[in-house]
Amino acid sequence: MRNNIIIVNEAKCIGCELCIKDCPGNCLCLENGKAHADKTGCIECGHCYAICPQGAIRMANYECKDEAVVSMTEISSVTLLEAMRSRRTMRRFTEQPVEQEKIDMILEAGRYSPTGANAQNVSYTILGSRQKEAEEICVGIFRKATALPGKIASVAERFRITDDFFFKGAPLVILVTSRSSVNAGLASSYMEIMAESLGLGVLYSGFFVLCTRLSRKLRKTIRLPKGHKVVTCMVIGYPAVKYQRIVPRKPARAKTL
Ligand SMILES: Cc1cc2nc3c(=O)[nH]c(=O)nc-3n(C[C@H](O)[C@H](O)[C@H](O)COP(=O)(O)O)c2cc1C
Repeated sequence: MRNNIIIVNEAKCIGCELCIKDCPGNCLCLENGKAHADKTGCIECGHCYAICPQGAIRMANYECKDEAVVSMTEISSVTLLEAMRSRRTMRRFTEQPVEQEKIDMILEAGRYSPTGANAQNVSYTILGSRQKEAEEICVGIFRKATALPGKIASVAERFRITDDFFFKGAPLVILVTSRSSVNAGLASSYMEIMAESLGLGVLYSGFFVLCTRLSRKLRKTIRLPKGHKVVTCMVIGYPAVKYQRIVPRKPARAKTL
């Protein structure tokens, strides 16, 4: 059980109970007309900090910057939906490097994605100086396709495994790793949308992820955090092609019970 990191400034607290009602862990109560934090049970989600009209709450171990919130409603939903429908996997990239500010924004989008119980247990590895070496290992694995399990062999045989088969000459590869596939998958989705909004294209390289399962050498090369698995491999760069229309899709399998 984590220790409670919530600090209530009693001089500022007006006892409105908003924090108490919003706490998902029932970790706050009213004592002598002031909010009071229990010793344990806090998942550090920050809802109490976010909701307090008086700015009376601080979170120990976190930098609390009092940043104003921006509502998603400030983004046109119609434009957002059309942009989401227009998103395409990018497999052809220019050589233009991705600026550090853009990489930072992509990572920030991942950092702010939700995680179960606010575990914040997703890590990001930029392959950087090891990108070429990692791709070479994967190319080696796929070129020995016949030695691989059935489905992989048939995939590898269908494609010509060029030297840039996995990363398509893209300048940036970010591995999203975690113990939790759901948390890392959600983070990846946030990151992809951010990358697209910055004019970048993204390819999820499932083939690369597969190789991380098959090769210890590759896992060593990418310095996989302990206990983590590579959930997604995000290949990112400036698009070398432009799509002209939104593709058709099967109807959503949605039902109301
Ligand atoms: C988890 C995942 C893994 C993928 N792996 C690969 C891959 O290794 N190589 C590739 O060319 N495309 C890969 N893709 C892209 C899919 O083929 C693509 O999303 C799908 O064909 C639909 O096209 P769209 O993304 O342009 O809508 C992957 C997509 C996802 C979500």
